[in-house]
Amino acid sequence: MNAPRPGPDAPVLVLGATGLLGTRLVPAMAARWDTVTHARSGGALRTADLADPAATARMLDEVRPSLVVNLAALTSVDLCEYEPQKAYLANVKAVENVAAWMGSRDTGCHLIHISTDQVYDGPGPHAEDGVTLVNIYGFSKYAGELAALRAGATVLRTNFFGRSARPGRESFSDWLARSLRAGTPIQVFDDVLFSPLGLETLVSVILRVAAARPPGVFNLGTADGLSKADFAFAFAAALGIARPAMARAASAGSSLLRAKRPSDMRMDSRRIERVLGIRLPGLREEIESTAKEYRDVP
Ligand SMILES: NC(=O)c1ccc[n+]([C@@H]2O[C@H](COP(=O)([O-])OP(=O)(O)OC[C@H]3O[C@@H](n4cnc5c(N)ncnc54)[C@H](OP(=O)(O)O)[C@@H]3O)[C@@H](O)[C@H]2O)c1
Repeated sequence: MNAPRPGPDAPVLVLGATGLLGTRLVPAMAARWDTVTHARSGGALRTADLADPAATARMLDEVRPSLVVNLAALTSVDLCEYEPQKAYLANVKAVENVAAWMGSRDTGCHLIHISTDQVYDGPGPHAEDGVTLVNIYGFSKYAGELAALRAGATVLRTNFFGRSARPGRESFSDWLARSLRAGTPIQVFDDVLFSPLGLETLVSVILRVAAARPPGVFNLGTADGLSKADFAFAFAAALGIARPAMARAASAGSSLLRAKRPSDMRMDSRRIERVLGIRLPGLREEIESTAKEYRDVP
């Protein structure tokens, strides 16, 4: 069957639409296509526990989407570590259920599945085949990718920062901005490297992916990366905070983190650049543009 394009008869379904990424992505999706939102516990047009195969299939049969964007996940790294069954249900079983629906119906529906840079460790930047798993979250997200790929999905491994539009759900940069403005002393890690995109850029690339639908796994981060400490100091400078109450530290010294964290999650995102014909920005550029989201808001 030819894949239907999103429209009034074949909407886009955003799974996990009420989360950090979903609340930023949905307005941009809805401005272009008929968009149906989903969450587990409310605040969306549809509710279903995706770990339940019957509830998942029922919802998908009713919506009959042309495109599913799966953002639903258990995203707490520490909770995944101590509740691996919960990690399995949200990050693996849920994707298997969505993929099973696609395989059992001749819908032409495409799946965009969002994954994470936590599937990498060791010296980066990492290409897509350089997976190293250090915690249950990464393991469960990787297993979810495999389920998505069986349905011909586009899997986007990413990380992001920017203003949360969901009350009570803070992003890394929300936490940083709040701590910096309050003068709360914080530790920032010199030995953890990453390459997150600002949410605005991430949303714009997902829109391109929704149109192009390339199958396979793609890293989606900035063209370069920074340590979390350098990120935090650059972000403080972009917010105009001259003397931030921050101390550089090594992550091994922190007892706050319960699950093991990767030390270098920087991604080599040239594959998606090639496939979409785009150039991804550098991280300092993203910090400058994303800091604007915080400047006029307390
Ligand atoms: N946050 C980050 O910094 C980050 C970084 C890299 C990658 N990612 C990936 O990006 C994606 C989006 O993350 P996010 O931070 O936006 O997530 P989030 O804020 O934690 O929101 C998760 C969403 O998934 C839904 N959900 C969770 N379990 C579900 C289940 N069993 N059935 C149905 N819905 C369920 C939640 O609904 P309820 O609230 O109703 O339960 C919520 O809408 C995830 O795939 C995540 O792994 C996130």
